[in-house]
Amino acid sequence: MKESHGHRRGEAVGGQDRRDYDGYARLGLDRNGQAEAFDAIGDRYDEAFPHKEGQLAAGAWLAAALPPGSRILDVGCGTGLPTARQLIAAGHEVTGVDLSPGMLDLARVNVPDAAFHRGDLADLRDGHLGTFDGVAAFFALLMLPRPEIPYALRMLHDLLRPGGLMALSMVEADVDDYAIPFLGNTIRVSGYLREELRQVVRDAGFDIAGESSPAYAPASTDVPPEIQLFLNLRRV
Ligand SMILES: C[S@@+](CC[C@H](N)C(=O)[O-])C[C@H]1O[C@@H](n2cnc3c(N)ncnc32)[C@H](O)[C@@H]1O
Repeated sequence: MKESHGHRRGEAVGGQDRRDYDGYARLGLDRNGQAEAFDAIGDRYDEAFPHKEGQLAAGAWLAAALPPGSRILDVGCGTGLPTARQLIAAGHEVTGVDLSPGMLDLARVNVPDAAFHRGDLADLRDGHLGTFDGVAAFFALLMLPRPEIPYALRMLHDLLRPGGLMALSMVEADVDDYAIPFLGNTIRVSGYLREELRQVVRDAGFDIAGESSPAYAPASTDVPPEIQLFLNLRRV
C-alpha cells in the first residue's frame, strides 16, 4: 500500500499494544456475494485446488514452531482442509472462522476436533475469541478490499501473544476488489506484488521469518494458474 489509511497505534490495554480500529469500522465492509459464492462452491473448492504442497509446508512450519497444545486461529478456514486438520494432527487446539456456513458445514465433518465459528474476520477485532499463539491465514485476506488488509493484519497481530506466529498466504497480483469468475461464481479478490506485500506485513508489526512463491496450476480450467506467496511471520 502506498498510504497508511489513517491507522494509529492505540494505548496499551491489558498489557498488550492494542490498536485503534475506528478506521476499520469506517471502511464500510462490503461482503456482498462472498459467502454465497463459497456456499455454492462447497467441496468443489478442494477438488479444484489439490496438491497443496506450499500450504502444507507453511502449515508444517507453524505446527512445528509452536509447542503442542498451542492455540491457533485458522482465519477464513474454508473446509478445514488441509490446514485445520494438519494443525489438529500436530496436537494443537484449533479455532476456525469463516463467513460461509456451507464451508463450515464441511469443516465440521472434515475436522471434528476443531472448533468452528461462523463470522466475519473483521469482527474478531473485539477480541471475543481471546488471544492466540498462532494464526493461519491461507488465501483468506485476499477476499478483502485492499484498504482493509492492513487493518486485518494489524488486528491479527494484536490477537497474537507477543512472539506469536502467523502463516500467511496470498496470490501475487496487483489488484483491488477485482471481480473474477471462480468455479461458476463471481468473487472479488485483492492482492499485491511480493515486495509490496512484504512492506504491508512489516508495517503491521511482523518480522518475516521465511517465504516461498510457488507457481500453482489449479485442477479446474475455471481458475487461472497463479503465483502463490507464503510468508512465515513472527509478531514483533
Ligand atoms: C479462498 S478460500 C480459502 C480457504 C482455506 N483457508 C484454504 O486455504 O483452503 C477463502 C475463504 O475465506 C472465507 N471468507 C471470505 N471472506 C471472509 C471474511 N470476511 N471473513 C471470514 N471468512 C471469509 C470464504 O468463505 C472462504 O472459505
